[in-house]
Amino acid sequence: MKKTINKKSILTVLLAVMLMLSVVACGSKKEDTAKEKETEAKKETEEKTEKETEEKTEKEAETEKSADATTGKALEDGVLDLGTNAAFPPYEFYEGEKIVGIDPEIAQAVADHLGYKLKIHDMEFANIIASIESGKVDGGIAGMTVTEERLESVNFSNSYATGIQSIIVTLDSDIEGPDDLAGKKIGTQFGTTGDFYAQDDFGEDNVQSFDKGADAVVALNAGKVDAVIIDNEPAKSFAAANDNLKVLETNYAVEDYAIALTKTNDALLTEVNEALTALRENGKLQEIIDKYIKAE
Ligand code: ARG
Repeated sequence: MKKTINKKSILTVLLAVMLMLSVVACGSKKEDTAKEKETEAKKETEEKTEKETEEKTEKEAETEKSADATTGKALEDGVLDLGTNAAFPPYEFYEGEKIVGIDPEIAQAVADHLGYKLKIHDMEFANIIASIESGKVDGGIAGMTVTEERLESVNFSNSYATGIQSIIVTLDSDIEGPDDLAGKKIGTQFGTTGDFYAQDDFGEDNVQSFDKGADAVVALNAGKVDAVIIDNEPAKSFAAANDNLKVLETNYAVEDYAIALTKTNDALLTEVNEALTALRENGKLQEIIDKYIKAE
């Protein structure tokens, strides 16, 4: 019996020890996993905080880049440099040596509102966006239409005017609307939306683009093109200056004009929009437009 008991007790002890061991093993495994999880979680939080801090620093750097640290303003040199193409009455044109029109006046009002000096740079219309991208100017104001494509290269302010693409023809022309343009020679200003639409709708071969809208009008007068597609207000002023020309009633396309601004300075976009809102609210914007576009 004693022996048996002994054997039994040894077995029991052994079993108990085995059980205990396995429990301990299990427990420690569990503990390990818990610990691992904790460390992982800790690591994750650390990584997250690190990332957040990085993002914050990046954002701070960006703000620093866009709003000058000392003046708190978007343009540290205090000068708003804008490109234009001053052959686009009544938006911009020369009066003697001076560039006048809706756009330079709006630009001046915006600059005044923001406490900047204004410098207008006259250039080919097709070069304005590239000059903004290269940093030669901060933006452009040139009766410029907001397009998806241009938005890839520049910021656009809120719109300050509506533009319409119109068709100019000679008085004796049989062209009565866009449909009659098929197969005709169309004059445009290079790099404008009118130029792009004409090429898309009537084929590159039928479009002749000129550096200036006025040059397209000269070609129309000379019978070298059959029609000119250009923005409505310049179309009206070109037709008014040429007895032989008329603007067709049909609207070829309706667009929004806005100030193009460098993509590298979001603070400038905010400031310009803020100025435009103020000028709309105090009536100055309408006053400028009414000065150049007389109600019919
Ligand atoms: N609205 C048209 C465009 O954005 C023509 C603008 C031409 N402006 C000028 N100043 N020439 O393409």
